[in-house]
Amino acid sequence: MSNEKKVIRQKFKSLRMRLSKEEVVIKSAQIKKSLFELPEFARSKTIVFYVAKQVSREVETEEMIKESLKMGKRVLVPVVDNAARKILFSELRDYDSELAPGAFDILEPKPSCRRLVPASESDLIIVPGVAFDMGGHRLGYGGAYYDRLLRELASVKPSLPLVGLAYEPQVVEKLPNTSRDVPINILVTEKRVLRFKL
Ligand SMILES: Nc1ncnc2c1ncn2[C@@H]1O[C@H](COP(=O)(O)OP(=O)(O)OP(=O)(O)O)[C@@H](O)[C@H]1O
Ligand SMILES: [Mg+2]
Repeated sequence: MSNEKKVIRQKFKSLRMRLSKEEVVIKSAQIKKSLFELPEFARSKTIVFYVAKQVSREVETEEMIKESLKMGKRVLVPVVDNAARKILFSELRDYDSELAPGAFDILEPKPSCRRLVPASESDLIIVPGVAFDMGGHRLGYGGAYYDRLLRELASVKPSLPLVGLAYEPQVVEKLPNTSRDVPINILVTEKRVLRFKL
């Protein structure tokens, strides 16, 4: 992994840690509102969400997931398969009772609540990231889990909308070494919605 990326990843992770828990709640609610107003979201029946890690101050997805379920949408969330170095997706039906900490201490469906579904069955993917740029490129957590997934999906389902969620300070003009990345289509922050021409 390039050192440059590592340094930038650290910088944006620390930037995010400056947010208070209250700011996370308020900004995540603003992001949720804009996400739910997207036509791509309204149309979607099956959505891949990530389950946010509270300690990292990620854009919170708990309320997004709960409301999507209430709206009757099918929600898929990641299960990390560390041995295979890949992510699988499982249908989540109840946020409060079905999750437990898994790899990287990220909440994922408990083994007894797993209903694996291929990500290609989804019609919208919420992609996590530490930073995003104006070309739709993404800096993730450094495992290339999503990079590999998105590359696979790009060949089987190129029309699948990829949506990033971020706080404004995580948006930059240009990120380094993005040639291998699959760019996202839409970025939603607490202030705006960016659509990328790919
Ligand atoms: N599609 C891919 N297939 C295999 N290796 C890849 C792929 N994309 C990136 N990599 C490699 O994996 C390593 C980590 O990539 P990178 O730093 O871009 O991860 P990331 O985008 O932060 O992680 P993630 O996608 O899980 O959020 C790098 O060495 C990169 O070259
Ligand atoms: Mg990457």
